Amino acid sequence: MGMRSLFGVAALLLVLTGCNPSPDPGSASSPQSPSSSASLPGARSAFLEKYWRRPLAPQGAAPENFSALEASLAPSACGTCHPRQFEDWKSALHSRAMSPGLFGQLQEMGAAAGDDHQACLQCHAPLAEQGEHLRQTLANAPHSVPPRPDGVSHAHGLTCAGCHVRNRQVFGPPRKDGSAPPRQLPHDGWQATDAFEDSRFCAACHQFEADGPTLNGKLLENTYEEWRASRHARENRSCQSCHMPDRRHLWRGIHDPEMVKSGLGIESSPPIISKGQVSAQLQITNRAVGHAFPTYVTPRVWVEIGQESAGGKMIASTIERHLIARDVSLDLTMEKSDTRIMPDETRRYVYRRNLHPRAIALTTRIVVEPDAFYADFYRATLKDQDVRIGRKAIDRALQHAEQTPYAIYLSRQKVP
Ligand code: HEC
Ligand code: HEC
Ligand code: HEC
Ligand code: HEC
Ligand code: HEC
Repeated sequence: MGMRSLFGVAALLLVLTGCNPSPDPGSASSPQSPSSSASLPGARSAFLEKYWRRPLAPQGAAPENFSALEASLAPSACGTCHPRQFEDWKSALHSRAMSPGLFGQLQEMGAAAGDDHQACLQCHAPLAEQGEHLRQTLANAPHSVPPRPDGVSHAHGLTCAGCHVRNRQVFGPPRKDGSAPPRQLPHDGWQATDAFEDSRFCAACHQFEADGPTLNGKLLENTYEEWRASRHARENRSCQSCHMPDRRHLWRGIHDPEMVKSGLGIESSPPIISKGQVSAQLQITNRAVGHAFPTYVTPRVWVEIGQESAGGKMIASTIERHLIARDVSLDLTMEKSDTRIMPDETRRYVYRRNLHPRAIALTTRIVVEPDAFYADFYRATLKDQDVRIGRKAIDRALQHAEQTPYAIYLSRQKVP
């Protein structure tokens, strides 16, 4: 795969300048809070459109009454006073959004390619100061740049300030109990808005705009719309209610086995032997994933059913594999199949085969490969000798992506 292919992917993503939430004043997506300043859906949508217009404006100088701690935009500074959110965030993928896989690609683009950087940074590290820090870092390599006085680093990924601070003013949801905050607060208090409880807050990065890139008539990133068409939207179950329960900042998703299991109903019937054949059934229901399972083109989920011999080995000729994924070509020009399970949909897999003479059990496994697309993409990229500056980072990204698969279901039933 040539350099062109690497940028083929980048170029497709470049099309997405400014992924604002799609305006849809009709959907009141979360319970309204009485103390909110912008409670009308239309007002919220206007607020969010402005709030997430990218590139974000530089924050400017901190107000003079701010202490050094209040003036810092570093997540660790926020964490001094908000330790719970900081600990959560540190363990979440939002804090690792400037991953080696992204950084390697930014290195290949070069220090001068600011517009190209923004096409990625708008979601992965959206502060204007992060873009500037990235530029300096790439231009100075292999020497490092001194830390910025405002504490900003591109390496922090999607930070507290990226979601909460505009023009040095802090924004956040109304207090949980609806009470009014005390008058004298650090960072001059905050502007309370229930837009933070709206699914469209997340759509800013988890939904491509209507004119974004599509395959087979479907947007490449369509999570918000999948959610909107589901029962969960009708029942006012926002993205936050599942991904930030109790306002926790964990954002668990496809990389977390417990989270994935919590969304699925899995049932298998015991194997039946009849006329020399073994048959069994497996059912997977998308019970509580608020969108397609999985929503992106990047994970692959495999269902594997096969007969096992003594010693615990699956007999190769008896294995059936089914893919649950939106499987697309590496250059994103073709959708090979879309077998994702939509909200409330049940998928049934029937296994019926001749009983193998050595079979003693029937085994069913469900394996999740959260980074399958990226692993293939990195492998192809590393085959290209023209990829040099970014090679080390992309190699690290590949090693990581190869380690993320895990099983969410394993059943081994003796055949009578
Ligand atoms: C010196 C301590 C301190 C620092 C530093 C600090 N905060 Fe705060 N922050 C507070 C306090 C105290 C409150 C008020 C909490 C309350 O009374 O509900 C608050 C409120 C907030 C709220 C609103 C909470 C809500 O209920 O909606 C947000 C959001 C917030 N801070 C984000 C940040 C971010 C982001 C940073 C870093 C850029 C930061 N804070 C730095 C002390 C601090
Ligand atoms: C509209 C928001 C958005 C834009 C723009 C965007 N990404 Fe992402 N990116 C995501 C989301 C969400 C994920 C996580 C879901 C997934 O795995 O697809 C992700 C995941 C990734 C990953 C795999 C996880 C990781 O961090 O290693 C890489 C690599 C990546 N993006 C690179 C890029 C590059 C390069 C660009 C710019 C050409 C870009 N992205 C632009 C939202 C975006
Ligand atoms: C991806 C965007 C995002 C990032 C990054 C983020 N937050 Fe939040 N934060 C939110 C949203 C959305 C809510 C409101 C959730 C809700 O109402 O269900 C929130 C709520 C809060 C609250 C109010 C909590 C409460 O219990 O009332 C505080 C304080 C806060 N965030 C601080 C931080 C700090 C500190 C960081 C960094 C360590 C951070 N946030 C990172 C989106 C973000
Ligand atoms: C500024 C852009 C941005 C916003 C706003 C944002 N995200 Fe993300 N989110 C990302 C990116 C980029 C990633 C991928 C990080 C990575 O792996 O590189 C991500 C990853 C995630 C993941 C982890 C997926 C996985 O693969 O396990 C979940 C879950 C998630 N986001 C949910 C949310 C929710 C819920 C909200 C709204 C409260 C939200 N995000 C707001 C950019 C954003
Ligand atoms: C009813 C609960 C629920 C709601 C509502 C919900 N999600 Fe999820 N989400 C899940 C579960 C469970 C998973 C893990 C299974 C999976 O990855 O599909 C998940 C996974 C994800 C992932 C991981 C990537 C992937 O390919 O699956 C992202 C990103 C995400 N959600 C974003 C969102 C956004 C944005 C919204 C709102 C538009 C949202 N979710 C609404 C339950 C929910």
